[in-house]
Amino acid sequence: MRIALAGKGGAGKTTISATLARLKARAGAQVVAIDADSNPNLGTALGIDPELLARSGSLPFSLVSRRLGSAALTAPIDEVVRTHGLEGPDGVRVVSMGAPGHADEGCLCSAHVTVSALLSDLGGAPGTVAVVDMEASPEHLSRGTARHADVLLLVTEPYFRSLEAVRRLAELATELPIETVAVVVNKVRSAAESEAVADFCDRHGLTRLGEVPWSDDVTRADQAARPLLDTAPDGAAVAAIAELSTRLQQTVSVR
Ligand SMILES: Nc1ncnc2c1ncn2[C@@H]1O[C@H](COP(=O)(O)OP(=O)(O)OP(=O)(O)O)[C@@H](O)[C@H]1O
Ligand SMILES: [Mg+2]
Repeated sequence: MRIALAGKGGAGKTTISATLARLKARAGAQVVAIDADSNPNLGTALGIDPELLARSGSLPFSLVSRRLGSAALTAPIDEVVRTHGLEGPDGVRVVSMGAPGHADEGCLCSAHVTVSALLSDLGGAPGTVAVVDMEASPEHLSRGTARHADVLLLVTEPYFRSLEAVRRLAELATELPIETVAVVVNKVRSAAESEAVADFCDRHGLTRLGEVPWSDDVTRADQAARPLLDTAPDGAAVAAIAELSTRLQQTVSVR
């Protein structure tokens, strides 16, 4: 199952991606976490040593051949993940799309194509769960980087602008062959907020698959630069992400 997470800036994509990835690994899956944000944070959220992250490279563009009009990895997927991935807690392997090294350097087209090819080949790896943490921009959809995801989770805060961003992303996603597109509401503080989001989703034909409460556990973990799953494993936010993981298993036909 290949799960991509998108949404407005700061909605909670990285927090949910990292926690979901580790919960899937604990449940027995081989998990590849892909940091597809050019301002990468997923490694730290998973619990990988920041010094190790700083020393490690990102996916080289030479991994992809663009001959014959389509992009394909030039090496077997297992080898790519083994060679270019870092192993994190619970055995999750993380690979990074990379960040610009210099100002005025140009676009990141090749990095997007590399993520897309990686995701495509992960589809043929049985028992593997890919979790892709995307950047806060519709570019992953307009470029089609996420086209090989089986599930697109649109993470939103319970506020109008965040919901509007998700509505626009959902519209773009209908033009890609993604089997399941669903909303995950994060930072919910009250039943009224939950109901307002449900109402918005109903009006716009959006399916809700998960709801994560506002929790000081999350901000505390972030302040300490530690994974939520390690600092508050029994808290309400982790419980809600575990429920999301179960729902994904029940809802998505691809394993
Ligand atoms: N359920 C929650 N309760 C309280 N704070 C949260 C919750 N989820 C996320 N946060 C906080 O919101 C901020 C953004 O979270 P996160 O980095 O996961 O979002 P993001 O969507 O990945 O952001 P970006 O668009 O910058 O990549 C962080 O400070 C995080 O600690
Ligand atoms: Mg993020």
